[in-house]
Amino acid sequence: MALKNINPTTTNSWKELNNHFEEIKGKHIKDFFKSNSNRKEEFSIAFNDFLIDYSNNRLNQKTIDQLIGLANEVELKDAINKYFEGDIINATEKRAVLHTALRTQKKDAIYVDDQNIIPEINKALSKIEAFSEQVISGKWKGYTNQKITDIVNIGIGGSDLGPSMVVDALKFYKNHLNVHFVSNIDGDHVGETIKHLNPETTLFIIVSKTFTTQETITNATTIRKWFLESANEEAIKKHFVAVSTNLDAVENFGIEKSNIFPMWNWVGGRYSLWSPVGLSISLAVGYKNFKELLIGASEMDEHFKNETFQNNIPVILALIGIWYTNFFNAETEVILPYSQYLNKLSAYLQQANMESNGKSVDRNGKLVTYQTGNVIWGSAGTNAQHAYMQLIHQGTKIIPADFIGFKESLYGEIEHHEKLMANFFGQIQALAEGKTREEVHLDLKFQGKIDEIETLLPFKIFEGNKPTNVILIKKLTPKNLGSLIALYEHKIFVQGVIWNIYSFDQFGVELGKELAHKIYSKK
Ligand code: F6P
Repeated sequence: MALKNINPTTTNSWKELNNHFEEIKGKHIKDFFKSNSNRKEEFSIAFNDFLIDYSNNRLNQKTIDQLIGLANEVELKDAINKYFEGDIINATEKRAVLHTALRTQKKDAIYVDDQNIIPEINKALSKIEAFSEQVISGKWKGYTNQKITDIVNIGIGGSDLGPSMVVDALKFYKNHLNVHFVSNIDGDHVGETIKHLNPETTLFIIVSKTFTTQETITNATTIRKWFLESANEEAIKKHFVAVSTNLDAVENFGIEKSNIFPMWNWVGGRYSLWSPVGLSISLAVGYKNFKELLIGASEMDEHFKNETFQNNIPVILALIGIWYTNFFNAETEVILPYSQYLNKLSAYLQQANMESNGKSVDRNGKLVTYQTGNVIWGSAGTNAQHAYMQLIHQGTKIIPADFIGFKESLYGEIEHHEKLMANFFGQIQALAEGKTREEVHLDLKFQGKIDEIETLLPFKIFEGNKPTNVILIKKLTPKNLGSLIALYEHKIFVQGVIWNIYSFDQFGVELGKELAHKIYSKK
């Protein structure tokens, strides 16, 4: 069954939120803390190794209640059930959306077109496991009987961003294989990647759900040509594998049937790292860690599916995002992981979020009259502090921020980690509390700058009242990373449901592709 079709702005909750916004907009985060000594505890959710603290936001319990009212009025619970049960919620493409089935730890059957998909998922997982074991152990040999040393993932968008983000994020758990990613059709990207590679010891994974994507097919063709300069056609089966739904096109490309890993139409590209699209992850960190990633995601799925909205992390974070986008008119959200390993997380979430919710037509086919999808950006702290945080602290825009931090570091560098986390909490506090005229005055006086007080004062005041969510996780493990990614996937889903849009198609990317083809064919 399809998703319900409810314009959020026609709900009572939306109207109440509009009135409530008038009460809240002039209030400072500091005031909320002053009037509720228990705020931190009340506005926190614990889940496994996660602690989500959303107390540093411009809202109170009434805001949350009304936002939950909105979720109820648009029948979010019904949408969640349909999402997990494989209903055709991607209605414009007539597809189910079942990335959650790829990582389910339950034995229950899940049906697509009257067929239980769990056995084929398990078969694909076993194939990933066996292949990873062979390549990592060195049993898989190249055409000159040497072990594989390098892996190249050839793909773009969802066939690149997820795997490359996770391989980077889990670098600590990596084995001896060097994993490279080629995505851009810019020939210099391929050139730079293959420059130092030995065709005898390199394995190429061509990842393309459709196997028609111009960038991927061009890059794969160039690499194949380069490979055949030193090897013969027979060698291709030892060095090229593919992940796709388009079996004919893959075979036409010359790839052995047994070297094809499946993909399915019920998995969106940007939600596909849990499928064989994540083969490079399993090769980089081993199947056991890949499985842990899936388990972590599945635990977040269960939390999302079963928890009340008040204690539901993806629901609460999504609602807070709606509050800022639709009532405060915020246009962007910054993701700030305080871990160098997660430097690519925001680039990954950019696609997940912006390709999903960058829509201006609702489920009636009518233009929306309210804002939808946000601009997602960010990079690792503390580097961000020395680059663009100035604008977030003292600029004119409201930019809600997600701070993601870990209690423990992986190398156990205590001094570094304590400094890193002091910055993490320092930024959150500065953004929330700011620095008043009186405090700046006192500071300048203390520094002996009495003569400069009047001139410097306005520039040194921090208004504060800048909203943040704190996502504090025990340690960066494959399992916790899986939960973190799934959290954001579900946040995107909830927002799409509330905005009454279709989050799982991406027709907006087609026109530019068509024109590029036309322009190229005319040359
Ligand atoms: O152009 C956008 C897009 O279709 C993404 O949604 C997708 O992740 C990417 O291209 C790659 O597609 P494919 O895996 O079919 O090559």
